[in-house]
Amino acid sequence: MIKLTDIATVNQQVSGDVIEKMTAIIRDNTFVNGSDVLAFEEKFARYLGVKYCFGVGNGTDALEIALAALDLPKDAEVIIPDCTFIATANAVINVGLRPVIADVGSNLTMNADELERLITPDTKAIIPVHLYGHPAPMTKIMELADAYNLAVVEDSAQAHGATYKGRMAGSIGDLGCFSFYPSKNLGAFGDAGAITTNDEALADKIRLIRDHGRISKYEYRRTGRNSKLDSIQAAVLVTKLDYLESWIKARNEVAAVYARVFADVKPIVLPMVEPENRHVYHQYAIRCERRDELMEHLLKSGVECGIHYPTAISQEPFIAGHEMLYANYRSRRYVNELLSLPMGTHLSEADISYIASCVEHFYQENTNLPPYTVSTSAV
Ligand SMILES: Cc1ncc(COP(=O)(O)O)c(C=O)c1O
Repeated sequence: MIKLTDIATVNQQVSGDVIEKMTAIIRDNTFVNGSDVLAFEEKFARYLGVKYCFGVGNGTDALEIALAALDLPKDAEVIIPDCTFIATANAVINVGLRPVIADVGSNLTMNADELERLITPDTKAIIPVHLYGHPAPMTKIMELADAYNLAVVEDSAQAHGATYKGRMAGSIGDLGCFSFYPSKNLGAFGDAGAITTNDEALADKIRLIRDHGRISKYEYRRTGRNSKLDSIQAAVLVTKLDYLESWIKARNEVAAVYARVFADVKPIVLPMVEPENRHVYHQYAIRCERRDELMEHLLKSGVECGIHYPTAISQEPFIAGHEMLYANYRSRRYVNELLSLPMGTHLSEADISYIASCVEHFYQENTNLPPYTVSTSAV
């Protein structure tokens, strides 16, 4: 079976160094606030070109703490894209705010051209999601945020090292939120996350919120919670960060081979990235005709694939308020066409050619099926 992700390969690459660090943590009993935590926070901040990085328990906590640090009025509206992992919506709701859903463009990130009509006097923040590692259109999002005085929280959970016009994802908005879930391009050996910012006042609040609002052992300045990046996860991340650029390069090389071998396969739309940006291909999500049948064919042929994600956020029953608007969203069609193909450093050219030949074979064999056209759009 050709695996969907390279998680086993990359973990094997770093395991020697990580085991050494873990052994030291166990020996010295430094599970919490060990030296690797600060080392990782400083190293990741330098990598992204931001002033502050705070390790937290996971990516969902990162979003919730970032939103809490904005101190927005209860029920304020926060615009999120319709195609994202459910955590983006849950984080907004969990901190007492209301998600308003924006449609997406053909690369599945927020369609900035249609954002303005969603802004009301209650709108206080936007969460662009750099889905699959493709940067969201930050120029327009930042312009609108400036014009309407909105905070921007970049959900960079899938976009470690992605760049938008030369700037790292997570360094452009007011706050950046990262997940280091094991399958991420920069993945821990368990749950982990981080929040980044250049804003000192927000940094001061995040420092408090992630640690029960305390300034010393039993002295508190505000309400908070417990959300820690633990030392063992930090040791994994500080080790892996040295490899991240080479892994991103390898992923881009795989994407280039996919583009070549799929050049003549018509019923699929490949991920596209503008030349000034860097996609990090956390997922290689194509849009295709007869998705479910193709997926079954690939699985039978020994090619693991996935769907990220099978439903749009606006289709979830707990999201209410703008059903008429959402019903016309492109995202509702795209979710039926998405298919994530294997992506990562584990793939050889021969693997990729094999995957392409399976896809080609599927469409050749199925020419007698009723016609169906992948939805296209200009954006
Ligand atoms: C876009 C997005 N946002 C948020 C999260 C939440 O991160 P975590 O699973 O670490 O809580 C994820 C994780 O998969 C994600 O993909």
